[in-house]
Amino acid sequence: MTTDVVPAKSTLYDAPAKPGPLQTHRGKANRQDWTIYEGSALSVLQSLEPSFVDCIVTSPPYFWLRDYGVDGQIGLEDTVDGYVSSLVEIMSEARRVLRPEGVAFLNLGDTYYSGKGKSHGEDAKSKKRRFGLRAVDRSGGLGLGLQRKSLIGIPWRVALALAEDGWVLRSAIIWHRPKGLPEYVQDRPSRSYEYVFLLAKNRRYHFDKDELPEEFDEDMWTISARPEWNEGLDTAPFPDELVVRCLSVGCPASGIVLDPFVGGGTTVRVAVTTGRRGIGIDLNRSFCQYAVRTLGKIL
Ligand SMILES: C[S@@+](CC[C@H](N)C(=O)[O-])C[C@H]1O[C@@H](n2cnc3c(N)ncnc32)[C@H](O)[C@@H]1O
Repeated sequence: MTTDVVPAKSTLYDAPAKPGPLQTHRGKANRQDWTIYEGSALSVLQSLEPSFVDCIVTSPPYFWLRDYGVDGQIGLEDTVDGYVSSLVEIMSEARRVLRPEGVAFLNLGDTYYSGKGKSHGEDAKSKKRRFGLRAVDRSGGLGLGLQRKSLIGIPWRVALALAEDGWVLRSAIIWHRPKGLPEYVQDRPSRSYEYVFLLAKNRRYHFDKDELPEEFDEDMWTISARPEWNEGLDTAPFPDELVVRCLSVGCPASGIVLDPFVGGGTTVRVAVTTGRRGIGIDLNRSFCQYAVRTLGKIL
């Protein structure tokens, strides 16, 4: 078996970050302030003041699942270590901007290692998948000695690295997604859940357990994935209900909410419609513009 020589860090993410946002959009909706920064999560977070955010709800791109079509994007690193360290670096800056009693909800899904070695090129199934030879298709077991067809275990690799970096890893919530993405596999069960990790900046933090719905298991949330498209933009949006639940348990009533990978803006929209202030960051200009348009429609 050959082993690829793998750099410790993502080559994509090694590109020098531009300082601060490329563009900043601000407004008011439901009498609440919102800000959307177009720029890389790392550089925008670095430009923000410390300790002012109450709650983070976010879903970074998964490892080699989609190409969001922007330079500097997370998710297309050559190695799992590169992906994990990119996220740890961003989440470390996110922790810096959290108030001492702040928490983060981090949604992550897994990826399979194919090792097939075939170039996917233009994928007829999805225009978003315009890859060459993806890292997960290369031989060499991704430098981790993985056998072909193995699940990589991305969510836990990230969660444990975040705990080592200083986060208090408080819960691995199962987000059960009934009728999620169809998977045409015959030799394993199809997937129906992802993780939402609850991370705290410190051991004492805001958590309103009474807000957890009684009819559900407390750490297993059954919430259907959001069916509709955002004007044809495939941002893999959060269902509103997931964000509502995270905010009701993890964010004070008039708190400040942050999503460093805001996509179509779900987190910020739910924040302002529930009486909170919202801050979103995204590298993709079309997504930021969509988020701004959507926020502009809220009275
Ligand atoms: C899974 S989507 C988030 C979807 C979002 N939760 C929603 O409801 O629409 C991940 C987002 O991360 C963005 N992204 C990727 N790399 C980034 C980076 N380095 N900095 C900021 N945003 C990035 C992508 O453009 C994409 O919109």
